[in-house]
Amino acid sequence: MKRTLVKDALASEAPVESLTVAGWVRTRRDSKAFSFLEVNDGSCLASVQVIADAGIPGYEDIARMSTGASVMVEGRLVESPGKQKWEIQATKLTLLGIAPETYPLQKKGHSPEFLRSIAHLRPRTNLYGAIFRTRSRMAAAVHRFFLDRDFVWVHTPIITASDCEGAGEMFHVTTLDPMADNKSYDRDFFGKPANLTVSGQLEGETFACALGNIYTFGPTFRAENSNTSRHAAEFWMIEPEMAFCDLEGDMETAEAFIRHLVQTMLDDKSGDFDFFCKFVDKDLRERLQAVADTPFVRCSYTEAIEIMQKSGQKFDYPPYWGMDMQSEHERFLTEKHFKGPVIVYNYPKEIKPFYMRLNEDGKTVTAMDVLVPGIGEIIGGSQREERLDVLEGNIARLGMDTANYYWYNDLRRYGTVPHAGFGLGFERLIMFVTGVQNIRDVLPYPRTPRNCEF
Ligand code: 4AD
Ligand code: MG
Repeated sequence: MKRTLVKDALASEAPVESLTVAGWVRTRRDSKAFSFLEVNDGSCLASVQVIADAGIPGYEDIARMSTGASVMVEGRLVESPGKQKWEIQATKLTLLGIAPETYPLQKKGHSPEFLRSIAHLRPRTNLYGAIFRTRSRMAAAVHRFFLDRDFVWVHTPIITASDCEGAGEMFHVTTLDPMADNKSYDRDFFGKPANLTVSGQLEGETFACALGNIYTFGPTFRAENSNTSRHAAEFWMIEPEMAFCDLEGDMETAEAFIRHLVQTMLDDKSGDFDFFCKFVDKDLRERLQAVADTPFVRCSYTEAIEIMQKSGQKFDYPPYWGMDMQSEHERFLTEKHFKGPVIVYNYPKEIKPFYMRLNEDGKTVTAMDVLVPGIGEIIGGSQREERLDVLEGNIARLGMDTANYYWYNDLRRYGTVPHAGFGLGFERLIMFVTGVQNIRDVLPYPRTPRNCEF
């Protein structure tokens, strides 16, 4: 069977004498002599209208071609007298699979909560189809950005023995029975503690210090017990790492990267972006256009704290120098004060991980976070500490196990270079470019505390 995608059929320049489409019935209306079917195959938002005259082969099954049933339609692509340009005049129908009344997507307008409970069927709805097609296109845009700039994609391990962020929020990987006594790592699969990676950065750095510019793009795991609309236990992260690069170069790349991704979305002609602008977030186009057009504001952490202290704004956590910024602070800065993307840099060393480069002041490190309206932190990054003695001092100060990081320190021992990088949370990006408010709706199967269904 040679199948034409609905997307291609609807974009046709001329009538087509014979074609076959296959998909799922969205709706059906019957009259005496014929039936209308709306068939969606997931290749685009739109469904194709099919007119099936009573009596064509397969029409005897028409009553069972209900919402959710799968069908194959052979026919002619003809100009439609209705509001759409093309429709299919069927010459033959084949019922592939029925969908009885228990099919949960009979009606439109289900809540996101209900649709999460049927995550295996929700890609068949307009919204989730558009989200997951967008996710795929954005992933391609990520690769395009870096490959066009001669970055090498490195596949860092998913199982590691290091904790990059030092937050201890790790999922342990073990083959030992958690219910059994006498547990010892000696009997465990790796003979030592292992966990799912919280970041590919440390391994990424070793490749940057050999290949120059690299990036990673893969799943990341954090056992953060925060049930927010912006945190997932399993999410995807893109982590570029650049040798011979300082904080300034890091911020420039981060800004160019976000701009490229936003422009990709603005250029979308598939109908998905229009759908988000119309049905998900009426301000989306304007917000993204502003991001594409205006340079990102740069603001040091110290300035940011002063701005908030002088703002008169009431915060649940009143700002003071040395605090870790909460979502309310990030959102205030990007949404209320600067009204656009802002890069906050030079954070107090106490609230940042061991690998960030210490500034001359001895108090701050070359960290940077990119904050965007509607999301808050979308990127976190830094210039890395390339001085062996300072790095070893950090590892000791934080009580980390030096033996685990000998290989990381070797980069400083042998031919050390200034280098920098950052991490973009892929789901936060998808939320940003679609206007979707909850991270659970941009992951195919979201994993969050007490939720590992499917
Ligand atoms: O700021 P983070 O923790 O930085 C790192 O992991 C560094 N190793 C990156 C680097 O310099 N190579 O995380 C980076 C980004 C955040 O800005 C956020 O967008 C996303 O990852 N992120 C999450 N997204 C969803 N769920 C979570 N639990 C997330 N934690 C971080
Ligand atoms: Mg961060």
